[in-house]
Parts: sequence; structure tokens; C-alpha cells
Amino acid sequence: AQTPDPAITELQPWMQYLGDGVDARPYGTPSKHEAHVIRRNVEWLTADPVSSVNFTPLHELDGIITPNGLCFERHHAGIAEVDPAAHRLMINGLVDKPLVFTMQDLMRFPRENRVYFLECAANSGMEWAGAQLNGCQYTHGMIHNVMYTGVPLRLLLEEAGVKTNGKWIMPEGADASAMTRSIPIEKAMDDCLVAFKMNGEALRPEQGYPVRLVVPGWEGNMWIKWLRRIEVGDQPWHHREETSKYTDLLDNGIARRFTWEMDAKSVITNPSPQAPILHSKGPTVLTGVAWSGRGTIPRVDVTLDGGKNWHQARMSGPSFDKSMHRFYFEFDWDGKPLLLQSRAHDSTGYVQPTKDELREIRGENSIYHNNGIQTWHVNERGEAENVEIS
Ligand code: MTE
Ligand code: CO
Repeated sequence: AQTPDPAITELQPWMQYLGDGVDARPYGTPSKHEAHVIRRNVEWLTADPVSSVNFTPLHELDGIITPNGLCFERHHAGIAEVDPAAHRLMINGLVDKPLVFTMQDLMRFPRENRVYFLECAANSGMEWAGAQLNGCQYTHGMIHNVMYTGVPLRLLLEEAGVKTNGKWIMPEGADASAMTRSIPIEKAMDDCLVAFKMNGEALRPEQGYPVRLVVPGWEGNMWIKWLRRIEVGDQPWHHREETSKYTDLLDNGIARRFTWEMDAKSVITNPSPQAPILHSKGPTVLTGVAWSGRGTIPRVDVTLDGGKNWHQARMSGPSFDKSMHRFYFEFDWDGKPLLLQSRAHDSTGYVQPTKDELREIRGENSIYHNNGIQTWHVNERGEAENVEIS
């Protein structure tokens, strides 16, 4: 700062007049100085915004919770504008008594609050063939981490009474895509929620208002939004989203299927291409996020030199099962170029692989389920770029 510093010596406008009173902003929005902190899409990725995706601005966030207005969106047929009074949830198929719930009915079941990440299986998919998109928002932003309030799906299924041959469920959305997926009954009975609140308030229309399925740790496509029906069956349905989509075509022509659990993954959010280092050499804060569909993240390693030396990062914030975790690594930057990477370890002992290690097993055809290690090159000016090293 210059001396004397006008930020200190001059009376700033916000000290010279009274501000807005209460109620001027009955539903608050961020400061106008934060107007750049928004979801963004990549226009050439999809032909039409009604069947498209935008990305969470991970490089602008801290802690572990994604604010509701910044949760990435993925719609196959646009945002359904559902009237909760006219919305019904049906359970049918292999049950003792088919049931229909109104939203009011759902509110009469015991509810739970749990924090989970939702990651689209296509997150980082564009990076499979090599470094492509310049920003962690675009390479890793098909994820959000939210506290859900909802009724355990198990309670609703027990109310209907699943027959002994009821082995699968098929949740269906009320949007124009009528999205469906097959989910094994064990998962449905274990930790799935029929959720109506996110971060304490009603779900946003973009996220499935008034009710969505929460399938902890499993790929985002299964988290049916605008949930209208759950059919119980004795085998999977083999619908579009579990055959031609969300499967991984291997080199031998055979596709991996039913790869529901999201493997452990991490990314450095700062510095990153959209968030360069803005100061010169000296004390520098590196931070990022890590998650696993199989548990917690007890440890993240960070390298500044492309993997020659690894350092254990500092975890900070709550460590919930199948939730995002926050890590930091404070270091003294010498002003020289950096090759930054992070590597997550999850509570099962699994270690995040390199992209080359993934390609060795999965071949070159994959799009989905890319949890490989991300590299950012940082130059002397602090600018970061998406690169790959082998
Ligand atoms: N549910 C319905 N009914 N329609 C959809 O298009 N998209 C799925 C899933 N559930 C979708 C849906 C996909 S592919 C993902 S990744 C997540 O919702 C995205 O959830 P979000 O929009 O809250 O980020
Ligand atoms: Co998806």
C-alpha cells in the first residue's frame, strides 16, 4: 500500500451515509463485488442448454459446503418447475401395498441431516485424452457438497413392504426426461435419503425441488431429481443411463458397467488457472478439496515439483463420510515455476492414481469415472495452467 494510504486517510463512501435498512433485501444475495462467483458452462460441450451442464466455481469457495446458488447443474431436459401441492411420490412394483405420498405425507416421517458430495460420473471426463480445460471449475466442478434433510428411503420402502423378491429399485424423475436408474435394494435400504432440504432451506428447482433422491457416494446420475416414483423389481432395468451412458468402454471392446461408487479424488483449487498467485514470492497458501464415495479422507499429499517430493497437507474442517474434505498446504514460494498436484488417500486405504495409471487399466475410450491426479503448472508470474506430466 502507498503512504499515506487513501484507504485509511480518505473517508470511504460507505462511512458517509446510512446503509440499507433491514428488509431492503428480504432474501439476501452476495456483495456486488462477488458477481464473478457464479456457475459457468462450456458452450461447445453440449448442443443445447436444456440438456447440458454447468460447473461449480470451486476456486472461489472455501470450507466444505457448496452454497445453494453455486451448486453445478446437470439437466437432461431442463429444470422442471414442479408445484409441490401437485407433486406425488409413488412406490409400486414388488411391494405389499403400493403407496402414494404427498409432500405433507413425507414430512410426517422421521428425518435426518447428512452432508454428502454429489459428483457427476462425467466430472473430469473431458480430461481423459489429455489436459484440456483451463480451470478447476471446468475440470472438476461437476461436484457439490451439501447438507441434506430428508427421510431415509428405507422407512418409505418398509412402509410399502418390499416383497422377498424385491432386489432392485428404479427411481423416476418428474422432469421431461423422466430420468430412471436401477439401484440395488441393499443400497436403497442402507443410506439413501428422500431429501427436501439442502443447506437448511428448500431444494432449489435446479436441484430437484421439491424432492430428490440422495445416493451417498454413488455417481450423480443416480440422484434422481423431482422424484415422482420408485418401482421395486427383481432385476435391473438396463435403461439408457446404465447402458449407452455412464459405462466405461475398455480397450477390449467390453464396457465396465454398474460402476456406481465414486473413487477417491482431489484437486488443488488455489492456485489454479482461474485463481493465480497474486503476490510475489514468500508465504503462500495452497488449498483444495478431496472426497471418496467409500468413506472419509484421512490424508492428502501435495507436491510442488511434479511428484519428486510429496508433503502431507493439513486437513481442516469436519470429516464426514462420503463428504468433501478441505486441505491446506502453506509454503514459502521461491518465485520459481511449480508443478502442483494433490493425491487423496481414503479411509479404505485406496490412493488416488495418476491419469496414466488409470489409462493403463481403462484404455483411451473412457469419459466417465476419471479420478486421476490433476497437475497445474505455475509460472514465475503466478499464472497457472492445466498440464499433464508423465
Ligand atoms: N434427475 C432427473 N430427474 N433429471 C436429470 O436430468 N440429472 C442427473 C441427476 N439426476 C438428472 C437427474 C445427473 S447426470 C446428475 S450429475 C445429477 O442429477 C446432477 O445434480 P445437480 O443438478 O443437483 O447438480
Ligand atoms: Co451426471
